Amino acid sequence: MSLQPSEIDRDEVKRLASEFEGAPLTEVLAWLWEKFGERAAIGTSFQGAGLVMIDHALNAGLRFPVFTLDTNLLFPETYELKARLEKRWGITIEGLQPEQTPEQQAAEYGAELWKKGPDVCCTLRKVVPLQKKLSTLAVWITGLRRQQSDTREGAQILGLYHFDVLRDLYILKANPMATWKREAVWDYIKANGLPYNALHDRGYRSIGCWPCTRATDAGENERAGRWTGFDKAECGIHTFLGDSI
Ligand code: ADX
Ligand code: SF4
Repeated sequence: MSLQPSEIDRDEVKRLASEFEGAPLTEVLAWLWEKFGERAAIGTSFQGAGLVMIDHALNAGLRFPVFTLDTNLLFPETYELKARLEKRWGITIEGLQPEQTPEQQAAEYGAELWKKGPDVCCTLRKVVPLQKKLSTLAVWITGLRRQQSDTREGAQILGLYHFDVLRDLYILKANPMATWKREAVWDYIKANGLPYNALHDRGYRSIGCWPCTRATDAGENERAGRWTGFDKAECGIHTFLGDSI
């Protein structure tokens, strides 16, 4: 069930956000589970932070539903990782599909839409399927971190997200990894032997769809390898109509 108007208390959300600022990851996840159970779900792109978060949740017996936006344009390495993680954790990760296959999209909008209009392509393949999913949930849990880029510096651990302006729908958005540094994420992955995307060992630090992702140099920010050549730093799922991260 979606977040009901009676569950929206801006002052309480702000208070909780500052209370959670220094709290351990498992404490934030446990609070969400206790209050919302399966109405809270984790969205993952199989990058470091998401893996660390799911592992903490499962180790604490918090069995949040997990989903991924499967644009049908992910790297083979990403699909392979999804299968390995499902086996290791004994869970099914729901793949949210866009309405059109890449071929149908090419027939309607022209070939390689990502080269002409990446915002439109991201809206069709990520934002719309996500909106559909969020309208069934009360809480969206992400692995977003402040350190990732300038656009993410202000990410709160808990916030309200007006994710569907046309239907005036809100969701609670939780970013329990917001304060985590990249090094801590990777220390955890290595220490616990978690499988990770093979592309990370080939210079890719932020991994999305194959047409819009490249490896990065050490001096660049983590997300510099996304949408090279475009003035675009976010796919839109965190900034739809601009009021959240
Ligand atoms: S993205 O917006 O550019 O794709 P990034 O890959 O850094 O973001 O991930 C930040 C968080 O956004 C992830 O931890 C995850 O919660 C959510 N997210 C990003 N991409 C996806 C995806 N394909 N499926 C589900 N969640 C995603
Ligand atoms: Fe399309 Fe690129 Fe966005 Fe993927 S990241 S949905 S290929 S524009």
